[in-house]
Formats: sequence, structure tokens, C-alpha cells
Amino acid sequence: MIIVPKVRGFICLTSHPEGCAQNVVNQINYVKSKGAIDGPKKVLVIGASTGFGLASRITSAFGAGAATIGVYFEKPSAEGKPGSPGWYNTAAFETEAGKAGLYAKSINGDAFSNEIKQKTIDLIKSDLGEVDLIIYSLASPRRTHPVTGVVHNSVLKPIGQKFSNKTVDFHTGVVSEVAIEPCTEADIENTIAVMGGEDWEMWIDALKAAGVLAEGATTVAYSYIGPLLTEPVYRKGTIGMAKNHLEQTAFTIDEKLKDLKGHAYVSVNKALVTQASSAIPVIPLYISLLYKVMKAKGLHEGCIEQMQRLFATRLYNGGAVPLDDKGRIRVDDWEMQEDVQAEVAALWEQATTENLSAIGDLAGYRNDFFNLFGFEFPGIDYEKDVNEVVNVPGLV
Ligand code: NAD
Ligand code: NA
Repeated sequence: MIIVPKVRGFICLTSHPEGCAQNVVNQINYVKSKGAIDGPKKVLVIGASTGFGLASRITSAFGAGAATIGVYFEKPSAEGKPGSPGWYNTAAFETEAGKAGLYAKSINGDAFSNEIKQKTIDLIKSDLGEVDLIIYSLASPRRTHPVTGVVHNSVLKPIGQKFSNKTVDFHTGVVSEVAIEPCTEADIENTIAVMGGEDWEMWIDALKAAGVLAEGATTVAYSYIGPLLTEPVYRKGTIGMAKNHLEQTAFTIDEKLKDLKGHAYVSVNKALVTQASSAIPVIPLYISLLYKVMKAKGLHEGCIEQMQRLFATRLYNGGAVPLDDKGRIRVDDWEMQEDVQAEVAALWEQATTENLSAIGDLAGYRNDFFNLFGFEFPGIDYEKDVNEVVNVPGLV
């Protein structure tokens, strides 16, 4: 079929198999261009199909030559119905891994469930024996708790008071004021249940109890801090409470891995356009200004540049892992540089519908957004009939 973008607000309902494959191949080529990393050998990526998780999987495989197992929740493709981007990304990744002689298998299902954890453990046992790196990169709006059966929904709201600030509709470029009502107590608990560290710890507990963690195993989850501007709705809002919980959980897991001489880390990553971040009010305006400033300074990175740098210069640099005063890895260091933040804050004051395409990188934002779904890649003929039904070679 001929597949065109069908955008509804901050999501796109269609995705393009060839464009998604191009996106994956571009990331593979980038990692290869940076040279070999003396890194992990057997890697489990939870949330492996898009964003930071996909980039982590690509870096593990094509940077360090690792065998990878990916867990994700994606819509398969069917006749007349394109799959979700993560489906096509995974198909492309596993095809490329196969060509390179790299083991790559995956599991499509709810990572929060006991069933998917057990399925993953069985696969590790039968194929790899153990894993030495576990990346935890889930971003989800809800979680069914595996013990209580309660469905928790996460929200993106300020705590205690209403938050008003500028935002942009990145499709139209219209800058407007947005006001977000404060959350309830239950919203905080629910957001922590979805995006906090409980499920990460459940994964590591289950993997350890099954005896599939290698000596010296490392696990990493991803967090975000960001600027003062977004603090009320991000770091000091409901999602920030979940990130605090996730960061605390790293210490709990680190303690549990002591007997294996293993470690648990949180890496604080840069703000990027992903399916998850497009949904957060105010963030798209911040990102479009940030991109402009970072690109002008030659500091801009996408998910793959971030993850390649995380592996090569932080996790597997041949020495100690550099940490901040709260025990976190920081690859948001360039985003948080004083000069970058000062320039973004000044642009924020000026930003209007009329000037945003000049002072901000709205075009870059939109391009990244469409790229997430496999659209707007040069060299792909979007008028062409493509086969929308694509198999994931390593799907278990
Ligand atoms: P993403 O939406 O691109 O990826 C989410 C992944 O989780 C996908 O592979 C998806 O299939 C998987 N997933 C979601 N629900 C699942 C479920 N129930 N079972 C199995 N898999 C499921 O998101 P992302 O932006 O790469 O976010 C990953 C992590 O990075 C999050 O913790 C996020 O907070 C963090 N982070 C994001 C940014 C940013 O700007 N995007 C910045 C710093 C940190
Ligand atoms: Na991810």
C-alpha cells in the first residue's frame, strides 16, 4: 500500500516500513563509524523498539558485537494496516543483525507482566545462559500491576499549584499559553507505579532468582532532569516524583547486585523528540529552542549519539563510571551547560507564533517527529507502493 502520515495531535497513526528501516540503518552506520566498544556481550533491552532503548540495542550489537534480546509492546503489521514504528524498527534491526552474524531475538508483550518476564527468562536460559547488561527503557502511559491487578495511569501534571506557561503546537507552529491543573495525591502514586522503579526492581529480582545474571552484570535505567522552565510540570511534577523513585531504586538494586559484583545505574539523558516526549505540554517548545541552540554550538545529539556516548565514555570507558553527586550518570551534560541554558531561557521569553520558526528549530522538531514514524527520510519514495506486512525475524 501507499503509506502517508495520518497525524492526530501528538501521535501519528501510520508508519512507513522502509523509512523505519532507513532510520535503523542510519543509526547502525553511525555506531559503526565511531569504532568498536569493549562493552557488553549478552544484552537484554526492555523497551527495545524505539527511542533510547532501540539506540541502546543498536549500540550494544553494532558497537560492542553483543547478542541482544529485545522486549517491547508494538502493533504487528497486517494486510492494509501498517504496524507501529517499533515493529518495523525491530524487523529492520533483526534483519541487519542477522546479516552481521549477531544473535537477535525479541518478545512482543507487556513487560510489566509476570508472563513476559518468565518468557524472557526462558529465552535467556535456552539461548544465552545469562545476560551481562540489562537496559530498562520503558515509557508507558499505564501499567497493570502484576500482583494487585490494579491498572495505574500516569499523568503529567504539576503538584500543589496550577502551572501556566508557553507551549507550541508543533504542527501549526502556534505558540499559546497552556494552564495545567494540579494533580491529586492518587495521581502521584499512580505515576510512580507506572514510571517509578518498582517494575525495574521486579525484573532484576526475577532475573537474579532465575540465575541468569552474569557476574559483574550491569543494569541501567533512563531519567531526565531538564531546565527550570519545565520544572513544575516535569521534574517537580508527577513524572518527576516517578523519576525520583526510579533513581532511588538504582541504589536498592545496586545493593542487591553486590554479591555478583554487579551495578545498577540511572543515566540522565538529553531531551529528545520521541513518542513519549511529544505528549508532554511545554516540552516541545523547549526542545525546539534547545535544538536551535545546540545545533548552532555543534552540540546537538539524537538518541543514537547519546547512547553511543553513554556506552563508550561512561559505562565501558575502561575505568570508573563517572557519576554526579547524586550517583547518576549524566549524558545531559551538554544540554545542561550554562551557556546553552541561558540562551534557551532568553529565547523562551521572546518566543511567539510569528518568530518561532526563526528563533527556534521548529522544522527540526517536526522532521524528528515524522522520522519517528519512518516519514521524511530523503531517498525513500513515499509515493511508491510498499509491502506493509513485514515479519520480525527474531520474534519468539
Ligand atoms: P519511547 O516511547 O521511544 O520508548 C518506549 C519503549 O517502551 C518502546 O520500546 C515501547 O515498545 C516500550 N513499551 C512501552 N510500554 C511497554 C509495555 N507495557 N511492555 C513492553 N514494552 C513497552 O520512549 P523513550 O523516550 O525512549 O523513553 C525511554 C526512557 O527514557 C523513559 O524512561 C524516559 O523517561 C527516558 N528519557 C526520555 C527522554 C526524552 O526526551 N525522550 C529524555 C531522558 C530520559
Ligand atoms: Na526506549
